[in-house]
This record gives sequence, C-alpha cells and structure tokens, in this order.
Amino acid sequence: MTDRLIIFDTTLRDGEQSPGASMTREEKLRIARQLEKLRVDVIEAGFPAASNGDFEAVRAVACAIRDSRVCGLARANEHDIRRAGEALREAAAGRIHTFIATSPIHMERKLRMQPDQVIEAAVKAVRLARGLSEDVEFSPEDAGRSEIDFLCRILEQVIAAGAGTINIPDTVGYTMPEQFGALIRTLRERISNADKVVWSVHCHNDLGLAVANSLSAVMNGARQVECTVNGLGERAGNASLEEIVMAVRTRRDFFPCDTGIDATQIVPASKLVSGITGFPVQPNKAIVGANAFAHESGIHQDGVLKSRETYEIMRAEDVGWSNNKLVLGKLSGRNAFRQRLKELGIELETEEALNAAFTRFKDLADKKSEIFDEDLMMLVQDEAVTQEREHFRLLSMMVHSETGETPTARVVLAEGEAERKAEAPGSGPVDATFRAIESMVGSGAELQLFSVNSITSGTDAQGEVTVRLKKDGRIVNGAGADTDIVVASAKAYLNALNKLHSKLERAHPQV
Ligand code: KIV
Ligand code: ZN
Repeated sequence: MTDRLIIFDTTLRDGEQSPGASMTREEKLRIARQLEKLRVDVIEAGFPAASNGDFEAVRAVACAIRDSRVCGLARANEHDIRRAGEALREAAAGRIHTFIATSPIHMERKLRMQPDQVIEAAVKAVRLARGLSEDVEFSPEDAGRSEIDFLCRILEQVIAAGAGTINIPDTVGYTMPEQFGALIRTLRERISNADKVVWSVHCHNDLGLAVANSLSAVMNGARQVECTVNGLGERAGNASLEEIVMAVRTRRDFFPCDTGIDATQIVPASKLVSGITGFPVQPNKAIVGANAFAHESGIHQDGVLKSRETYEIMRAEDVGWSNNKLVLGKLSGRNAFRQRLKELGIELETEEALNAAFTRFKDLADKKSEIFDEDLMMLVQDEAVTQEREHFRLLSMMVHSETGETPTARVVLAEGEAERKAEAPGSGPVDATFRAIESMVGSGAELQLFSVNSITSGTDAQGEVTVRLKKDGRIVNGAGADTDIVVASAKAYLNALNKLHSKLERAHPQV
C-alpha cells in the first residue's frame, strides 16, 4: 500500500456550504491559487450544476490551476455530470465526483428510490462520468448510517463501472472513530475489487470527531482524506486540513503515510479563507488559532525558554506563523513592498492593482508605524474587494461619541453612481453607523453576528470586523479591516450588503 496520503480539499465546495460562506468566482480563484501553493493534491472547486455562477467558478479554477487536480461535484444524474464535465474541460487534470445517498433514511425519505434503483443510477452515473473524464470519484452519501451489505454491493459495481476513488462520507458526523476505521477495513476486505481503487474519507464534525474519524480511517487503509481549511463546512464543518496534515506529519512514528503538503503555507491559507468568508478562527484552534503556539503560564514559558520541545510538539514557523515580523514602514518604497508581497506568495495581476495596493499601504503606514505581514495580507484582500467594483462603497464617515451623550454617525456612501449621505443616533458608534447605512439602503436585513478581531497586537493594530446578515433566507458574511474599528465595521456591513445585492441563485448539492 502506498505511503502517500492524498489531500483532497473541499473548502470551495463543502466549505462554501457553511451558512454565509458563499464566494465569488474571484474569491474562489484566490483561494484555489493558495491551495495550489499549499500543494493540495485535489481541489474540489464547486458544484457546477448548482448555478451559472458555480459553473463559471469551477471553469475558472480549472483553467487557472496547473499543479493540483481540479474536481467538480455532480449528483448521479446526466445533467449534473455533463455540466461537471464541461466545467472541467480545460483542466490540466480533472476529476468528476458523483454521489448518491445509500442510507435507508435517505433512500426512502429523500430520494424515494428502492435500493436497486440507487445502484442502477450510481453505475449509470459512473459510466457516463468515465466517458467524460479519466478520473472519477464516487461517494455513497450518508455511508456512516448505511447498511454494510448494501454498501459492499453498490461499491463493487461502481468500481467495476470505472470509479478510481471511492469516498466514504460520514455525512452527518454520526460515527465513532473505532467504528469508522472498522467500516473502512471491512469494505476493503469484503469488496472483491477493492484493491483497484483509492479509498477516501469525508467526515463531518457534528460530534467534534471529524479529524479523529478521518485519522482512524487512515490507520485502516484510507489513502485520501477530504478536508477543508479551518474545518469550514456544512453545519459544524468538515475535518480540518491543517489538523490532518500536522497530525500525520508530527506523528510519522505512528502513521504509515505522509502528505505532499507544504506546511509553511498553512497559516496564509487559513488567514485567506477566514478573511474571504468572514469566518474568524477561534483563538484556541489547533495549528492556526492565534493562541496555538502561545505559552501563558510561567512554568510553560520557563520550560520553552530552556528547551522548546518541553511544551511544543511543532514549530510555529513550520506551519507558516511569521513571528509577527516587522516587515515594512513608512519609508519603504514600492520595490520593497512588491518584494515582500512576492515573498508572501501574493502576486497582484496588474501594475494598476499593485499601485492601488501601494497607495493603501502608504495610507496605513501613516496611521500605523509598524506594518506586519498580517497587515499586508489584509490590505491586499481589502484591495481585491474594492477591485470587484462593489455596488455600495464607503466614501467617508464621522462618528461622535461622548460620555453622557447619545452617539451619532454621519455616513457618506456611493450607491452605484449616486452619492448618498445620512446621519443617525445609536446605542454606540457602531450601532449608529449601521443605522445610518440602513436609513439609506433600507435592506431590512437581520444582523446575526458582529465580531471584531485584532489582526496584530498593539492598540494601533488593524481591527478585522465580521458582520453576518440574513435576508429572505439568505445568509451572507461581510468583512472589513481598518485601524479604526468603527470604519472597519462600516466596511464589513457594506461588504455584506453587497453580497446580498448580488443575487446568487443556486441549488444545494445534497437535495
Ligand atoms: O457530506 C457528504 O456526504 C458530502 C458528499 C457530497 C461527499 O459532502
Ligand atoms: Zn460533506
């Protein structure tokens, strides 16, 4: 058996199914390029049949990415499979991933199909997909709650029909690690043609066991793990890429395999995904949380100073933490700026984009004497948002906040070509700002989440604000950054409104 563990990243597909995490084509492209840099083996770029936007996004990723395989998801029907094949036509290496539910509850209540009909649809889908792509993956959805005899029957037939990867999803995050590992072992032992395929797993985190279940499967012969950056995904999310990669790498004595991932790109990938989706990373999150390598207690600090290994099993720099290095200041020139971006793996496509980012850098350097890598990444991200020519843009604002007085905000914004102004009182400066914006825009959206994180340390740090809005059943996240957190809040609110404004009609893959 091979000692290579294939990393299949589904941040752009399952990750995008998190409420509010939907991404534009440009955002998907930026994440895909970072995943390629991370040396992910397979990038699942989306579900092409969901909408024209999804189709275009998968096609754009397939055209841009050369070093990773690009995959598109398709239900087991002709329309979905043909759309996936079409979206992947330009890929250097493509894969069609088709699936159908196999658990009694899904077959009876959702699909309303008999087990034999499900087998027939699966085999037909795999054959059709093989006609369009050399590389086909099949998933029996809700395998964790499916009957073993039925799983063996359907999987044997889809392997014979040409599937090269069999992916076992624990769709609802129900199984226990020992049980899930045993399921993989049993399938590999009982299915006569099991040795013809790569066995893969796809675990959800409803009971917090997605990583444990995936690793247990690896110990039982799985050689592909489907995962997402920061563990993003439906409901409680998917297995987190960074935890899987660093578990097998740190415990090479225990696991019989390793990945081809460039771990130094993990933290930049985490920050990019968090910035684009507006899903902050909890501080105590393994590997990528702000506290993952922070030692607070005196005993621990003393130990680490004497010998790092006393309390650290990984090195922060090996996963891409940059030590908050001071990189540039007010006097740094354009070349130094360009060079540092290059070192961070950020390539701005046009000279115009570089100039605009440099102007923003100079503005930031006027407000903040020390500029760190994190600031640069946020600045470039903010620049990309502006480049997308948003419908609502912040032109200027002023807030008044004084003890004993009602705070007020005056906001000037551009709505398309028109300039609009409004003033409103509020319980605090952020509340007043949102009220002023709403009095102009009248979205009526419900504010579901407001959070502020500081990007670096110090009181002059930039604040990164996330705003989640809900309207007519749609949930969107907006993000904004600034050294002034009230301005960052206004940017985040407008970013969310822009996402609501650009209507994305899409189907959900699992219905
Ligand atoms: O969770 C799941 O079952 C899925 C499949 C489409 C693989 O996401
Ligand atoms: Zn899933």
